[in-house]
Amino acid sequence: MERKNLTVNIAGLRLSNPTMLASGILGLTAESLSRIVEGGAAAVVTKSVGLKPRDGYPNPTVVQVKCGLINAVGLPNPGINSFTDEIREAKALKVPIIVSVYGFSAEEYAEIAEKAVKAGADAIELNVSCPHVKKTGLEIGQNPKVLKEVVKKVKSTVDKPVFVKLSPNVTDIAEIAEEAVKAGADGLTAINTVKAMVIDVETAMPILSNKKGGLSGPAIKPIAVRCIYEIYERVKTPIIGCGGVENWRDALELILAGASAIQIGTAVATYGSNIFRRITSGIDSYLKKKGFKSVREIVGLSHRK
Ligand SMILES: Cc1cc2nc3c(=O)[nH]c(=O)nc-3n(C[C@H](O)[C@H](O)[C@H](O)COP(=O)(O)O)c2cc1C
Repeated sequence: MERKNLTVNIAGLRLSNPTMLASGILGLTAESLSRIVEGGAAAVVTKSVGLKPRDGYPNPTVVQVKCGLINAVGLPNPGINSFTDEIREAKALKVPIIVSVYGFSAEEYAEIAEKAVKAGADAIELNVSCPHVKKTGLEIGQNPKVLKEVVKKVKSTVDKPVFVKLSPNVTDIAEIAEEAVKAGADGLTAINTVKAMVIDVETAMPILSNKKGGLSGPAIKPIAVRCIYEIYERVKTPIIGCGGVENWRDALELILAGASAIQIGTAVATYGSNIFRRITSGIDSYLKKKGFKSVREIVGLSHRK
């Protein structure tokens, strides 16, 4: 049952609660997305999809560390042409479908986004922050000039909201956010994984086949909170918070820092898909206990003087 106090609106995308699935976790098939929706997610972001099919890196691609995961999966995906079937099927889920795209040029990003929207995507999330694939992701997102070209090209190609997913692996995330907004971004997703590495002392070698990867999970939540806080101070564009959310308290921290909605990735793999419902219910109880009428009232509340 939908509760009015929990609905949020991000650039015209209406969500029945502030939780959504982050890109890259169970986001490759309509069937896995349907389990996420059954678990209470108000929207889903697909795995990042490119123009051509891509195998990703050989194993090991994911390592568990004390407070999270380090992954360098290498953006494995079937390519947009076959992925459009999954997007069409996912439309039956009755929640907004946000398609994450990556490319090696502004034209590629736009071509993939156009195909995704034609297949039914309700919004596009630009992956300009993947830390472990060369010539895309972070290599685009840390260069304001190239980032602006990508955002402008996609915005002039599709008529759906365009969210830009930002990397914490930059000197000033608020500055990059501002550039994305100037180029037309309708929303900012913060954050992608934090560059990291793990070495096996027995073999004295890096564990991941790609050597370096991206850290996710509880370890990065304070980094996400700081990034969201800084972006909120700089721009008025809605922020979708992401990074280390495992429970309702974590979700609230990101919201109080300035996020209008939050995404969950690693914790879905750890705790299962019902996490969305549990977190929504925790937020609901908090709002009632504290006397707030709506979750919208507490977005960025920690900034008050
Ligand atoms: C195994 C794995 C695969 C991921 N793949 C993608 C991806 O394809 N595109 C993307 O934008 N982010 C990807 N991410 C990053 C997540 O969407 C998210 O930004 C990050 O993990 C932080 O959130 P979390 O701590 O809730 O996992 C991936 C993360 C993990 C752990």
